[in-house]
Amino acid sequence: MTSRPHPTTLAARAGTHIAPGAALPLTPALVQSTVHTYPDLAALHRVLDDEEQGQVYYRFGHYNGQVLERAVADLEGAADAVSTASGMAAITGIVFGLLESGDHVVADRNAYGGTRTLLDLELPRLGIETTLVDAADAGEVRRAITPRTKLLLVEALTNPTMRVPDLPALVEIGEQAGVTVVVDSTFATPALFRPIEHGAGLVWHSIPKYLGGHSAAMGGIVAGDAELIGRIRASVVHYGGTLGPFDAWMALIGLKTLPLRMAAHTRGGLAVAEFLASHPAVTHVHHPSLPGHPHAEVAARMLPDGVGGMLSFELAAGRAGVDDLIRGLGSAIPLSPSLADVATTLVHPATTTHRSLTPEALAELGITHGLVRLSVGIEEPADLIAELEAALPPRRSLG
Ligand SMILES: Cc1ncc(COP(=O)(O)O)c(C=O)c1O
Repeated sequence: MTSRPHPTTLAARAGTHIAPGAALPLTPALVQSTVHTYPDLAALHRVLDDEEQGQVYYRFGHYNGQVLERAVADLEGAADAVSTASGMAAITGIVFGLLESGDHVVADRNAYGGTRTLLDLELPRLGIETTLVDAADAGEVRRAITPRTKLLLVEALTNPTMRVPDLPALVEIGEQAGVTVVVDSTFATPALFRPIEHGAGLVWHSIPKYLGGHSAAMGGIVAGDAELIGRIRASVVHYGGTLGPFDAWMALIGLKTLPLRMAAHTRGGLAVAEFLASHPAVTHVHHPSLPGHPHAEVAARMLPDGVGGMLSFELAAGRAGVDDLIRGLGSAIPLSPSLADVATTLVHPATTTHRSLTPEALAELGITHGLVRLSVGIEEPADLIAELEAALPPRRSLG
């Protein structure tokens, strides 16, 4: 009679010996295991020595992260990519991987608040200084660069006033000064804009926004030249910022519909922007495809298929008008302090995303208390326009 292992032994080894079949699943498998097993040391060493593709321990990289990284690198036209636990872990990986004490960064003052906090509060403690500029002003960027400058950090489309720096002009400045241009393309995505094709050294994203698309997957990703990505990957592994497999798997599923979603966001964003621009309760709309936008020409040149679903607008009634609008829209267009979901959401930048800024800094960025940022989803634009029309003050009361 063969001796049957004890139930605790059977339970502890459940599933360990069953390899997946030869056929590939249509949706890549979710490999949630934090570690893999090997038949002998030689096989493990081949993977550790990069002689063979494989996975060892999740923090060094895992199957779902690798699938996502290949997909984003291909979409961005980049040689390689590395995924990270959040968007902030991506920019942290970039600065820790590429900079050392004594280095200098030039960054757009319109950059995401978390990026500015990293530059303003964390990096000076490590001996890395930053000069903030208006990246849409090439002269100001050129003047800020010093012999110690290593990185120029910009965003493809800025939050909330939708500024569009002229990337080819910035790349030319960077090349002359030996400075790597790094683009946060969270708002634009590779469906609409591929910074690497314009000469940027690196492009990065916050995944819960458009890349994932459904406010479900957490994460960040950086794409670019293989040597730079190798250095960033090492820093992400050393500091422990690896993306989890489940979020990587969810992000990949979202990524499959990215170009279709971006086309719908773009169509809805423009229709809503045009509606708001025609409404008497709205004094100004920030949308780069509207003729009056200061960067309309740059946007049309760099993002010929449109700019996605982000826009902001100024209410004539100021802060009181914002409260009325939020109440009027209710759950149809909810107040939600993130962006880029398939559903339309709004936020009040002055008291949420940018609340840590001083009144002077808010004024410098053009963020007033009457400004509302709208993240237009993929709903039918006519429905959104009807909901906004009903929630804004009646036209006749405005004369
Ligand atoms: C443009 C932009 N970049 C970076 C980030 C940071 O990403 P995360 O929140 O995933 O760390 C955000 C977050 O809102 C963002 O909007």
